[in-house]
Amino acid sequence: MALTMDTLVSLCKRRGFIFQSSEIYGGIASSWDYGPLGVELKNKIKRVWWRDVVQQRADMVGLDASILMHPSVWKASGHVDHFTDPMVDCRDCRRRFRADKLEETPWEHYCPERKDNRFSIPAGAPCPHCGAPRSRCPECGKGELTPPRQFNLMFKTFMGPVEEDAALTYLRPETAQGIFVNFENVLQSMRRKLPFGIAQIGKAFRNEITPGNFIFRTHEFEQMEIEYFVNPHETVDGRPADEHWHERWIHDLLAWYQRYGIRAEHLRLREHERDELAHYAKRTADIEYEFPIGWSELAGIANRTDFDLKQHAKWSGKSLTYFDEERKEHVVPYVIEPSAGVDRALLAFMVDAYREEEVRGDKRVVLRLHPELAPVTVAVLPLLKKREAIVRVAHAIRDDLSRRWTASYDDTAAIGRLYRRQDEVGTPYCVTVDVQTVGDPDKGEAGDGRVTIRDRDSMEQIRVPVPELVSVISELMAGAEWARVAPRFASESPKP
Ligand code: GAP
Repeated sequence: MALTMDTLVSLCKRRGFIFQSSEIYGGIASSWDYGPLGVELKNKIKRVWWRDVVQQRADMVGLDASILMHPSVWKASGHVDHFTDPMVDCRDCRRRFRADKLEETPWEHYCPERKDNRFSIPAGAPCPHCGAPRSRCPECGKGELTPPRQFNLMFKTFMGPVEEDAALTYLRPETAQGIFVNFENVLQSMRRKLPFGIAQIGKAFRNEITPGNFIFRTHEFEQMEIEYFVNPHETVDGRPADEHWHERWIHDLLAWYQRYGIRAEHLRLREHERDELAHYAKRTADIEYEFPIGWSELAGIANRTDFDLKQHAKWSGKSLTYFDEERKEHVVPYVIEPSAGVDRALLAFMVDAYREEEVRGDKRVVLRLHPELAPVTVAVLPLLKKREAIVRVAHAIRDDLSRRWTASYDDTAAIGRLYRRQDEVGTPYCVTVDVQTVGDPDKGEAGDGRVTIRDRDSMEQIRVPVPELVSVISELMAGAEWARVAPRFASESPKP
């Protein structure tokens, strides 16, 4: 059965991933708080992205610009004039809608041919009884809609104690502009040669008209953005450099999601139509994911040309060019921008990892998250919480493992239930300490100093000497398959 958003929202709350913001006050629309496991997952997504696209690439550097910027930034970038959505209001129920999305919204209809009958009609379809297309409010079915008016999505705020126009600024609606205004600083301080990129992870804010679908569209979210600067006068493999690098980044970003577990059949590329392109873009391709709400944007890769650097040069009066030593000329670089939402990535990783399986007649919910993303890497579980020696060893192992990975200790239920709980939050490995590990002095039995490692996906178990635990888990975390590691410990391990 396909995963619904409701099932996911409920799991996220129950297991400490995501809570509604300000819940004790009745909540606030479309704002979410990441709980103890959610923040681990989110941090790990950001960490692997940073490692893969910044630290491991010689052509990339990082940046962390401030959220509040000079208000001229947003005039130069075009956001003050163009970052708008067309909005309509219902004169009756006062609900607001994006005018350009109305035909994609299912609608309520009071059909004149079927008295007292209110029908819900799928998006874009006419009433099956009277044949009328939607003409009124899709929500209440009664109110007339106002003509569309442009609504700017930037959140306004004031810097300083006086709320006057001179103090007006905005919460950034994208992290990108912080990179453009630092182009010259990075170029000079880091002595970069084209092509090179600057990456940034940070919060962005948009006063969306129709936020919703859990963390898919919110007012406050995080972006992982790259601005990759290329020389427009160069060619690579016979193509203009910007077009070559655009293709490369589309390929690399698609591969990145798959590397961390998203199945290829749940990803697709969608080219923006000409009339849909942002004011700065020569070409944009979206990576779409098959969310429970249907195929929707996960990330976008745009060719922003030299628009932003030229605009900032014009508005600031500073030259934002690159000196091409070979051609002895100043050029304004073109920019390829792979831009991904952190929250949408988290949603996609969770949706793709979610499985309901039947194990010996019981339902098992398991998140098959990539081990590097799983909020808890190893859970250490004592088989008997009243045996002091077992508990002591389990705590010592957890402390040791937590120097390298996120490790947790849990003794609040019987072992079967503890395994199920860890499966549901995606913990790839559980380590169990039992009587065999520590021995039984009452019976004069010595411990064997081995612990059980249980693999989440196969549910197989191996018994490993405690001194080898770190090296075995390191091997698994480095990508070694369980099926290749397990046979080394077969003679000591429980039979499946
Ligand atoms: N700098 C380019 C830019 O911001 P965008 O397509 O508007 O492009 C990039 O946003 C990504 O940010 C999207 O693909 C999406 O993952 C994420 N995003 C945008 N608006 C969002 C919102 N309201 N809530 C959550 N994520 C959002």
